[in-house]
Amino acid sequence: MSDRDLRLAIVGHVDHGKSTIIGRMLADTKSLPEGKLEFVQENCRRNSKPFEYAFLLDALKDEQSQGITIDSARIFFNTKKRHYIIMDAPGHIEFLKNMVTGASNADAALLVIDAAEGIKENSKRHGYLLSMLGIKQIAVIVNKMDIVEYDEKVFNNIKKEFGLFLKSIDIEPISYIPASGMKGDNIAHKSENMKWYDGHTLLQMLDDFTNPPLPLEKPFRMPVQDVYKFTKDGDDRRIIAGRIESGQIKNGDEIMFLPSGKKSKIRNIEYFNGNKNGTDSAGNSTGFTLEEQIYVKRGQMAVRINEKKSHVSTLLKANVFWLGRENISVGNEYMLKLGTVKVQAIVKEIIKVIDASSLDLQKKQIVERHDVAELIFELKNEIAFDLISENPQTGRFVIVDNYEISGGGIISDLIEDKNEKVRERVLIRDEKWIASDITKNERAVRFNQKSQLIIITGEKNSGRKVLARELENKLFDEGKIVYYLGMGNVLYGVDSDIKQLNKMEPEEHIRRMAEIAYIMMDAGIILIVTALNINDDDVRLIRTITESDDIITVWKGDDISKNMEPDIHIKSNENGISKIINIMNKKGIIFSAE
Ligand code: GTP
Ligand code: MG
Repeated sequence: MSDRDLRLAIVGHVDHGKSTIIGRMLADTKSLPEGKLEFVQENCRRNSKPFEYAFLLDALKDEQSQGITIDSARIFFNTKKRHYIIMDAPGHIEFLKNMVTGASNADAALLVIDAAEGIKENSKRHGYLLSMLGIKQIAVIVNKMDIVEYDEKVFNNIKKEFGLFLKSIDIEPISYIPASGMKGDNIAHKSENMKWYDGHTLLQMLDDFTNPPLPLEKPFRMPVQDVYKFTKDGDDRRIIAGRIESGQIKNGDEIMFLPSGKKSKIRNIEYFNGNKNGTDSAGNSTGFTLEEQIYVKRGQMAVRINEKKSHVSTLLKANVFWLGRENISVGNEYMLKLGTVKVQAIVKEIIKVIDASSLDLQKKQIVERHDVAELIFELKNEIAFDLISENPQTGRFVIVDNYEISGGGIISDLIEDKNEKVRERVLIRDEKWIASDITKNERAVRFNQKSQLIIITGEKNSGRKVLARELENKLFDEGKIVYYLGMGNVLYGVDSDIKQLNKMEPEEHIRRMAEIAYIMMDAGIILIVTALNINDDDVRLIRTITESDDIITVWKGDDISKNMEPDIHIKSNENGISKIINIMNKKGIIFSAE
């Protein structure tokens, strides 16, 4: 056995015989534990119900002998050539959810069609979903041929009709097999009843599937899963861990974390079970230390600096397969999970909706269960991703509605958001930046604080400046290195070249303020900024420029503007300083002030 395991999904309309086919294959290849078949048959006799091969799957649950194990939905099966993990699950919605979560991310699929009933909606929907998820290695089994008297014409008609459908969704099946799961025709043995068919049996056909190659030649992508800190015995390593979805790395490679844009070098690829010569590649879970301690967290994407980088945006154009109970409409909010990142997303536009079984365009502005739709999502925070055409592993996502998996999607196109230009400038800035020899960490230790940006905003006359001044005094008295910068101080100095202050795009003011903040935070300072009516968009821009999550937003005043979700809300009659100090303590920015 040389090949990797092949993950195989078995799909098709309800009752078309998926479980029967798998049960029959296990029985006919003698893959079942000794006596299992007889036991199940005997059980049926005693309860006077007809024996079904599908029962074998239930009877095998949690069984672990002779190389077969079946857990809730996976069956492990071997041929001489390789191991198979077959995914069969009752209940369509559950099954489809499994498929879109990628947990059962299949390499190939069997699509089962009942010869008597013919092609049903789910035969097509499942085909569509496979195509959308990029599972293009498919074999079609026309099952229950015994019911149609093994008639070649029935088989050919289905082959022709379904072939046209599959072609329209860009799938070319590797074979069509006329079979009977119940009687055993063309499952493990060649059928005597269908001499007109000279192709492979199902069992032979499995070995015809090929293992998709590992994406070693693609750019390096590793969504960060976790950062492990070691503290024992003076060990101060921090290991950045995750699964390499594509490409390869070696010790000394320069890498970048997106969306933050922070750069460092791989010091050492660390293995919990030994060493691999300082290299690692796609398909493996790995962990490495960095030359320079930068702030990295779960959800960021590690890429290599000299390769094509992932995209970063707050807008996604996507094709979505919807399984949720509630319809999607414009303005709805969901949670998207892409690799290791979770982000809130609002449906900004429904471009088109099609019925996944008829492929008909629907004239509606809602997306119902089982529909496929092209949508634009606006994300609460920018994330790093690839297009499905560039990298399937990092180009798809799962939609969660109310803690429930409700759909899957693939990112079809890039839409630049309005911070794209700024992001490009920041990249150049970072490239040209001459870094100090003193690290952020060394400064934090010396100053006994972590640098931070505290943005205090609200409406006119809400008392922002008074609050900022008090906070500055309080922290200063505690021995902190803190500085209060009012927006006015920026306007008439740094911004003095910008004419007609009120009419100028306010973004340029924010951008310059953020660049100042970036420098002051680099210097290790706690910076307090006050500005009128800052909204979530502005905060995103500031985050992009400062490349930092070390930001606390405070809304001072009774009514928060609807475009803003501050970390802290301080009402007008409230002093509220302790709320800010509390968060600073909790985040470990300061260690003592009360
Ligand atoms: P779900 O898991 O409910 O979606 O169904 P399934 O696709 O797994 O179908 P299953 O294997 O449970 O078979 C459904 C019914 O079709 C059972 O009663 C089987 O006995 C019957 N059946 C399956 N294959 C054949 C076949 O080749 N010929 C005949 N005559 N009946 C079959
Ligand atoms: Mg079944």
